[in-house]
Amino acid sequence: MASNLAEKDKRFALHPFTDLSAHQEKGPFIINRGEGIHVWDDHGNKYIEGMSGLWCTSLGFSEQRLIDAAQAQFQELPFTHQFTHRSTEAVIELSEKLIEHAPAGFGKVFPVNSGSEAVDLAIKMVWFYNNALGKPKKKTIIARERAYHGVTVAAGSLTGLPYVQNGFDLPAISVIHTGTPHAYRYAKTGETEAEFSSRLAAELEEQILAAGADTIAAFIAEPVMGAGGVLIPPEGYFEKIQSVLKRHDILFIADEVICGFARTGNWWGSDTYKIQPDIITCAKQLSSAYLPIGAVLVTDALVDVFTRYSDELGMFGTGNTYGGHPVSASVALETLKIYEERDIVGHVQARSSLFEARVQALANHALVGNARSVGLIGAIDIVQDKNTKDQYPATDKIAAQVANAARNHGLILRATPGDSVAFCPPLIIDEEQIDVMFDAVTDALNDVQAIIGCS
Ligand SMILES: Cc1ncc(COP(=O)(O)O)c(C=O)c1O
Repeated sequence: MASNLAEKDKRFALHPFTDLSAHQEKGPFIINRGEGIHVWDDHGNKYIEGMSGLWCTSLGFSEQRLIDAAQAQFQELPFTHQFTHRSTEAVIELSEKLIEHAPAGFGKVFPVNSGSEAVDLAIKMVWFYNNALGKPKKKTIIARERAYHGVTVAAGSLTGLPYVQNGFDLPAISVIHTGTPHAYRYAKTGETEAEFSSRLAAELEEQILAAGADTIAAFIAEPVMGAGGVLIPPEGYFEKIQSVLKRHDILFIADEVICGFARTGNWWGSDTYKIQPDIITCAKQLSSAYLPIGAVLVTDALVDVFTRYSDELGMFGTGNTYGGHPVSASVALETLKIYEERDIVGHVQARSSLFEARVQALANHALVGNARSVGLIGAIDIVQDKNTKDQYPATDKIAAQVANAARNHGLILRATPGDSVAFCPPLIIDEEQIDVMFDAVTDALNDVQAIIGCS
């Protein structure tokens, strides 16, 4: 039965972020059950989901309250939309709760279905805003190299990873990519973290001046860069970047699709790094990924401009059929209630010192050049030589080797660019499970070292 399913998958399914040709050889990795932080494959093998799926299943795989919330909403009203003044209790209550937890100055929420959609909408909002203000030239968005903001035509243009753009004619909107705040890889020899941050801010300002500040609409950043390799900002980075942006009247979009909802040990990554955004995009942990939903949060200052301009144009002419789907919204609302009742922020903070200690201990391994974490997200960079930081040849796919080896030890991890291996377990992980998880990482590193040592 399992192999029959695998054959059907190879015959009928196209997979995202997959070498479609290699897939015909390898076939699918079929997950068919989950409980707590664990999932089981179709051969009955049990794994810790060390990536929370795609950085998203914060409450694990068996939270009955979320299942009940979905069922109740399905029975009451399985669908209505948000167009032309319509709404539901679920969306209204969810919006209020999101604003309750938003940074000061945030006033309204626009629900969407995914992170990419949230980012696309944030870009449209920025364009709408500058058109309203009579600044039609002010449209370019600045993102960072190695950023991940999604895959749709606009969001995929902001993503700073070649594998997302290759072959797809991206970028397709006006975007400038600026430097990556990963001191281990990009700081110059002898440069302190603070000096590195100053240099990145100075380089950003040079780019703004070269393009003309009157052409730059917004800067978008993940507080901690996720899919680009879990890159944690160096000391003083956001403070210095924000002062450049303020000087040139450039909006800040905080892409909280991974960091939002306690991942970094505070409600928002923006809280952790003292970012004062104008727009927040979120998704993933908003519903613990039980149903697709995202949201864009906007400050009152922007909402006022939207409101005036939409009156002039006749409407705020954007939205999707399923944006604010009542079942997704009910599940998201229940998720946020659970976060509050179980003090998820406190839980993450309490677990983060053990998590950090276990991540940092990996830095002693011969294969590990850098180890980093904040809250319950972290990564290691695999290197061939710790002193020179030289990497293995790309063809070795060394980080993928570690992730594959981890699977043999009952742990799902993910290889990310820069030969990084990422850790992002469900937020409900306990201390014993953190130990089991990192024992498996160590075993995986030892396995790969043994194979490389023999080759
Ligand atoms: C920071 C960030 N923004 C946007 C996205 C896109 O989200 P989605 O895959 O839901 O479109 C992701 C997805 O991983 C992300 O990590």
